[in-house]
Amino acid sequence: MADYYDQISEGYDGLYLEEQKKKLEIIAKYFKPKKVMLDLGAGTCICVMYFKIKTISVDPSAEMLSKGSGTKVKASAESLPFKDNTFSSMICLTAIHHFDVDKAIEQIRRVVKKNSPIAITLLKKSSKFDEIRKKILDSFKVKEYDCLNDVAFIGKA
Ligand SMILES: C[S@@+](CC[C@H](N)C(=O)[O-])C[C@H]1O[C@@H](n2cnc3c(N)ncnc32)[C@H](O)[C@@H]1O
Repeated sequence: MADYYDQISEGYDGLYLEEQKKKLEIIAKYFKPKKVMLDLGAGTCICVMYFKIKTISVDPSAEMLSKGSGTKVKASAESLPFKDNTFSSMICLTAIHHFDVDKAIEQIRRVVKKNSPIAITLLKKSSKFDEIRKKILDSFKVKEYDCLNDVAFIGKA
């Protein structure tokens, strides 16, 4: 998957920046991030540009990360190189359908402090939509919001 995103990184913002910003406008009505925020599956770091708070942008695609600014860490959601309780908020925008969701949720629960604000969006057309939706709802105290091509799950870790 990192190879695929490495290849499309050059054109990614041209294709998706506006759409992702519209999703963030919806999310920002309900999600008030606190520093330090984890952006999981950050891609070209659109979230840190939007929220403008101290953020660690994590993605396995070095090329996607190279297009963005701020603090970037090349890593996968299933194996996060951070100590327990490092983060006070988390966002994961249109990326969770790529993860091993069980492992990623375990890692999120480890590195994000309990009761921190979180926002996760899931692509409506994901073939694993129902399965991933259930895992998110079972793992976090979140409500669902329509978010264009995604459903947003917003609440607390
Ligand atoms: C559709 S893009 C979304 C990027 C960004 N969140 C945005 O909204 O523009 C999906 C991102 O998930 C990343 N990704 C894929 N597998 C991942 C994994 N196992 N852990 C973390 N990120 C992953 C990809 O490299 C890609 O940057």
